[in-house]
Amino acid sequence: MKKGIELYSNKEIERIRKACQVVAEVLQIVAENIKPGITAWDIEQIAREEAKKRGAKPAFLNYKPPFSDVRYPAATCVSINDEVVHGLPKKTRVIEEGDLVSVDFGAIIDGYAGDSAITVAVGNVGAQKEKLMEATKLALERAVQQAVPGNWLSDIVEAIHSTAEEYGVYPILKYGGHGIGKKVHEEPFVPNNRKDLGKKNIKLRRGMVIAIEPMFSLGTEETIYDGDGWTVKTKDGSPAAHFEHTVAITKEGPKVLTEL
Ligand code: MF3
Ligand code: CO
Repeated sequence: MKKGIELYSNKEIERIRKACQVVAEVLQIVAENIKPGITAWDIEQIAREEAKKRGAKPAFLNYKPPFSDVRYPAATCVSINDEVVHGLPKKTRVIEEGDLVSVDFGAIIDGYAGDSAITVAVGNVGAQKEKLMEATKLALERAVQQAVPGNWLSDIVEAIHSTAEEYGVYPILKYGGHGIGKKVHEEPFVPNNRKDLGKKNIKLRRGMVIAIEPMFSLGTEETIYDGDGWTVKTKDGSPAAHFEHTVAITKEGPKVLTEL
């Protein structure tokens, strides 16, 4: 496949939903286990075990995303505080009270993929981080509502970017959502920031399945790479939040496939 956007039948969407449901279950269990003292690697192990129990293959483990030349060595992305996305889960990274922990997980069942992310507040994180989480979650909800046939990709981007503005937080540049189904990353790219949309607007059609994943930070739109080659951090060190759902665009409206 070169450029085209995949359109999925209702039958295929039900198969994508199967993978998505496992993702949702795994993330729920992971969330219940995030406490001070747990390490990022513990989260990785929980996710691997729970996926295995459900007959699913972790979608990111040994996967080479289109934006990288090398394979990702883990099943989860665990991004803490100023880490925005693609945080490599490390044995040495101990979760502490006050942390914002984003966990991103994907699963494959019978050749179809699902992808979702949550941000968990560890104990009392303070008003600013609470606001950041609320804004990011609301942006995802509003973006999902725009995922209907006949709307434009720009309607999704606008829902996300304007929510960030409303809260006085920053929509991260260059990283965003994507088509998903037979592969984890398919066309189209779904930006979180208006600047990333450019002229690439497209009309949303029934049968499209997309992962929508707003990432906001308290201080900047810009990111830098951490020394590990994967972990993306905010340029100014301010905290970030990230929520993601896989959503099918159907005749009946948006179907959030990664919701329990
Ligand atoms: N949900 C993440 C994304 O869409 C998946 C990362 S794939 C990885 O960017 F291989 F980089 F982990
Ligand atoms: Co994704």
